[in-house]
Amino acid sequence: MITVSVQSDERSLTRILDKLWFEKGYDFRGYKISSIKRRVARRMGLNNIESYERYMNFLDSSPAEYHRLLYDLTIKVTGFFRDAYPFYILRDRVLPDIISSPPFNSPLTKGGQRGVIPLSPRSANLVPPPLMGGGEGEGEKKEGKRKYFQGKDMANEIRIWCPGCATGEEPYSIGMLLLETLKEDAGRLNIKIFGTDICKDTLEKARLGVYHYSFIEVMEKGYRDNYFIPHDNNYRIKYCVRQMVRYGIHNLVNHPPISHLDLLLCRNVLIYFDRGLQEKAFRDFYYALRPKGYLVLGKSEVIINEFRDAFIEIDRKARVYQKI
Ligand SMILES: C[S@@+](CC[C@H](N)C(=O)[O-])C[C@H]1O[C@@H](n2cnc3c(N)ncnc32)[C@H](O)[C@@H]1O
Repeated sequence: MITVSVQSDERSLTRILDKLWFEKGYDFRGYKISSIKRRVARRMGLNNIESYERYMNFLDSSPAEYHRLLYDLTIKVTGFFRDAYPFYILRDRVLPDIISSPPFNSPLTKGGQRGVIPLSPRSANLVPPPLMGGGEGEGEKKEGKRKYFQGKDMANEIRIWCPGCATGEEPYSIGMLLLETLKEDAGRLNIKIFGTDICKDTLEKARLGVYHYSFIEVMEKGYRDNYFIPHDNNYRIKYCVRQMVRYGIHNLVNHPPISHLDLLLCRNVLIYFDRGLQEKAFRDFYYALRPKGYLVLGKSEVIINEFRDAFIEIDRKARVYQKI
């Protein structure tokens, strides 16, 4: 690959970002400039172009390059139970609290008390799970529906959002953890996990839920056996987990947030935003969470000063916080 020495001035780079916003509706103007520069330089190098001006002309003549640039401007790295530690905190503290709490404004809520919905003893002790879900195909589909959404009741709703979910491993990890935690009680709750991203291509992969073995071998065998089935030389996450997650396009820069959340995981996304955009995202997250809702950030991300008083730190290392 050719290394480009980008000699053009920053104004030309700004014009490229304006172009992406005005012509394609993608606003990268609030991203950290160093990361944007690296990504654009990579595209220029691959196309043997040495100035932003020429690259801008090239974009005009090549719609395919527009698409590739949009894809390359964001980092898609993810994984099942990525940076595992927060998932222990979620399993042992956060999910049991969410599960045992009545939803905000429900007739079950009395003075914000938690712990009203009784669970079977097996749900409470979080030991390694028995098999859940069924076989494959239609049978599995019906079985899944019957098991997990029987007696759907808004009062028992659990709402979780993973913005910037890339190819879906993060929302599926949460789905598996919930099934482990709830076991046979999963059918009594209306669980909604929203996986969103700005990138349509990654969301298509997420919806399909098909992964190479190298992506699932990082998990304990129990998870692999319980929640994946072989699929064309790869592995597909089972319907019982897939049906818990709804995927959709959502841009943290300019779309309104999903609301009434019990848990929001936004990991390894804010790190690419500049201060102003981070502030906007925290404001959205604050209003999107229910009182006592949980927020999980990536391991290199922290709550910015303006919002420190709005959250309690549950576990610093895991970057888990709770809205006051
Ligand atoms: C590094 S991945 C993080 C995936 C996952 N959260 C994790 O930590 O494993 C960052 C994702 O954020 C998405 N992203 C970047 N900018 C975004 C925005 N403005 N709104 C929503 N998603 C965005 C990217 O498309 C990418 O899929």
